Order: sequence, then C-alpha cells, then structure tokens
Amino acid sequence: MGLGYVGLPTAAVLATLGRRVAGVDTRADVIERIGRGEVHIVEPELDALVRAAVSRGTLRAVGPKPVAADVFLLCVPTPLGRDHAPGLQYVEAATRALAPALRPGNLVVLESTSPPQTTRNVVARILAEHGFVAGDNIFIAHAPERVLPGAVIREVVENARVVGGVTDACTERAVAFYQGFVRGEVHPTQADVAELTKLAENAFRDVNIAFANELANVCDHLGLDPWAVIKLANHHPRVSILRPGPGVGGHCIAVDPWFIAAVAPEQTPLIQTARRVNDSRPGVVVEAVCRRANRYRDARVACLGLSYKPDIDDLRESPAVEVVRQLRQRREVGELYLVEPHLSDSPFEDLSLWDLDSALERADIVVILVAHRVFRQRVDARRLQSHAVIDPVGLLR
Ligand SMILES: NC(=O)c1ccc[n+]([C@@H]2O[C@H](COP(=O)([O-])OP(=O)(O)OC[C@H]3O[C@@H](n4cnc5c(N)ncnc54)[C@H](O)[C@@H]3O)[C@@H](O)[C@H]2O)c1
Repeated sequence: MGLGYVGLPTAAVLATLGRRVAGVDTRADVIERIGRGEVHIVEPELDALVRAAVSRGTLRAVGPKPVAADVFLLCVPTPLGRDHAPGLQYVEAATRALAPALRPGNLVVLESTSPPQTTRNVVARILAEHGFVAGDNIFIAHAPERVLPGAVIREVVENARVVGGVTDACTERAVAFYQGFVRGEVHPTQADVAELTKLAENAFRDVNIAFANELANVCDHLGLDPWAVIKLANHHPRVSILRPGPGVGGHCIAVDPWFIAAVAPEQTPLIQTARRVNDSRPGVVVEAVCRRANRYRDARVACLGLSYKPDIDDLRESPAVEVVRQLRQRREVGELYLVEPHLSDSPFEDLSLWDLDSALERADIVVILVAHRVFRQRVDARRLQSHAVIDPVGLLR
C-alpha cells in the first residue's frame, strides 16, 4: 500500500522474484500509469522491472481499496505536520482501508518511518477495532526501510533489515517473510525498538552534522577556516568530524529526529538543538552573502546548486532552496542566477535557471550551495578570481 519511492520498488522486486503483488495507491493517475507498465518516479532500473512484472502479470496496480492478500506492506508517507508533529494520517487511513480486506492469519507490516509506538498504538489499535488481535488471529510488525534513493532496487534486497513484531509470534512471522527475499541479515526485535532504531540512525547523522555546522559558525565568528580545523582534528585516531554545509535536507535526516522529540520532548534537548542548528544554517549563509553584497550596488548573485545533496534532482527540504528563498527577500541582493544542472525547470516562478558559464559571467558574488560533481569539474578558485565567493560546502577545498 503506497506506490511511491519505497512501495513501488518493493512491489516490483517482489513481483520480479515471482510473488503475486497487488500494488495499492489512492492516486488514480499512479494506478493508471503502473497498470500500463509505466512508472511515475525516477529510480534506476525501476521502469524495466515494472514493465516486465506488469506484462508477466505478477504485478498489478489496484486502488484505492486493497484486495485480499497474505501480506500487507504499508509504505505510505509519514510527513512532518505543524510544529514538527508527526503526520500519521496516511498510516491511519491505510490501516482503516485494509481492515475489510484482512483475513485471519494475514501479516501486516508498517514500513513507513514512524515514531515509537505507532505500530502498536495506531496500526494494531485500529485493527483490534475490527476484531483482529495481534499475535492471535493476525500478525503485525514494523520493518523500517533504509534504502538510498538511486540504489533502491539493489538495497531493497541487499540491505540488512530490522524487523520488530507487536508480539514474539508477530516478529517470527515477519522475519520469515523478509528472509524469503532479503539477502542482508534480518534482525528480529520488538516493534517499538525497530521504530526507534531507524529514527536513531538519522538523528545520529543529524547531530553529527550539526556539530560540524556549529564548528563552521565558530570559525566564521573567529575568522578561521573550518576546513583546516576539521582536517587537522580528524588526524586524531578517534575523531571523525563530518563536513559542514548550508544545512540539512531531504525527507529523512531533516525529519526523523522530530519523531523522537515528539514522543520524548523532555529527554531530547540535544536532538532538538541539533535540528535547530542545522535549520539555522541557510540564514548564516544568507548573512554572509549580504555582508558581501553591501559592497556592490544591486549585487548580482549566482547560486550554484539547488538540490538537497550532490548529483540528484531532489529538492525536498533542500537548504539551498531555502537560501534562495531568503536571498530574494533581501534588499542588498539584485539579480539572482540559479544554476542547477539536474533540473530542467526552476522551482521559483520568478527566477529562471541559468547555465553555469552565463551565470558566472554575469555574477558579482558566487555562492556554492551543492557540491555537484559537474561543479567540481568545472569550477575552481582560478575561475572565480574576480568574484566574491561564499563556499559553505567547501567545493574549492
Ligand atoms: N523515499 C525514501 O528513500 C525513503 C527511505 C526510507 C524510508 N522512507 C519512508 O517510507 C515511507 C514512504 O515514503 P515514500 O518516499 O515512498 O513516499 P511517497 O510519497 O513517494 O509515496 C507514498 C505513496 O503512498 C500513497 N498513499 C497515501 N495514502 C495512501 C493510502 N491510504 N493507501 C494507499 N496508498 C496511499 C501516495 O499516493 C504515494 O503514492 C515514509 O514513511 C518515508 O519516510 C522513505
């Protein structure tokens, strides 16, 4: 249930392995496209797998209601709501929708990233209202997905999985299902441990990036070079400081730490502060640009990169987009030239995309927001000799 970045590759891989899969989605356009053997998301190899599975008949798209099955995988969105509250409305709706299709002995697995207790307090609670008791006449588990966009088809099969049931019997049943197609290790645990494990992985990354970003703020304040400090500190055998940048983006690292804070607000000052440190970084970059811009009349600024990380086209929670959003509201800044070689259309209605050469030719200030490979190949200090340069990603280092 949910044929997005997680659900569709999972469905396609299972269908390719010979399982009979019904892919369920509430979006009619998604059902229609997949029904024709086409895909609506960009992921290497996915289109070929879907086309083959649909034409062989092992994958069919149905919706909005699910059909009877042995196993139900919930791969629906879990976005951040207002005030960083977890948005569990899709998990609730999908669970309510599957209840009429459920039969005794079925397995229901929540794959969506969720705050601790969601499997028990949302999925199991709703199914209990329909007479299904976890570990008795139904099996319910959480198996968080940790796939890397761009490598999902391989990682769905090869990654290790953490699989936690609502009861021991649920764990056993869910582990057996994943062992049927996963080549990585399958680690059995409880549902709430599995939920927190996935969130802890991303909060760990976020806190460590926040440390690097805070160090960059300190260096900025003292007029020191953060890249030199980090490089030297990392010669210590037990120190490994990450790279600072203009913030943290994407739909996982920038979101998941709030799911821990939601269930333990008093216990998570570090996690919440790390989020705020990373969220404040676009503003720090904007201030640095504006300090330079003050020296020009209507400073022309080239922004290199818009995606949330190098070499992709994904703009979700992108700090580079936030930098541009803030820059266009500043009086010190004149024209903005956006350069994003991975996009064909600008995400800003009133700002167009420029090719790298034209943008560099026109700009007074260059701010490097994403360390795309193509920028590494084509931009260096010599080329930017006549520009003021802000380089929060350390591309020139
Ligand atoms: N994208 C990733 O790389 C990634 C990696 C790890 C974990 N996750 C997690 O996996 C979950 C799904 O993420 P995604 O990126 O695949 O989301 P997505 O938005 O790409 O896809 C979700 C799909 O679910 C559908 N949907 C919504 N409500 C539904 C319902 N009631 N019944 C059936 N379908 C419904 C939507 O129409 C959409 O097509 C989220 O919790 C996310 O945090 C994503």
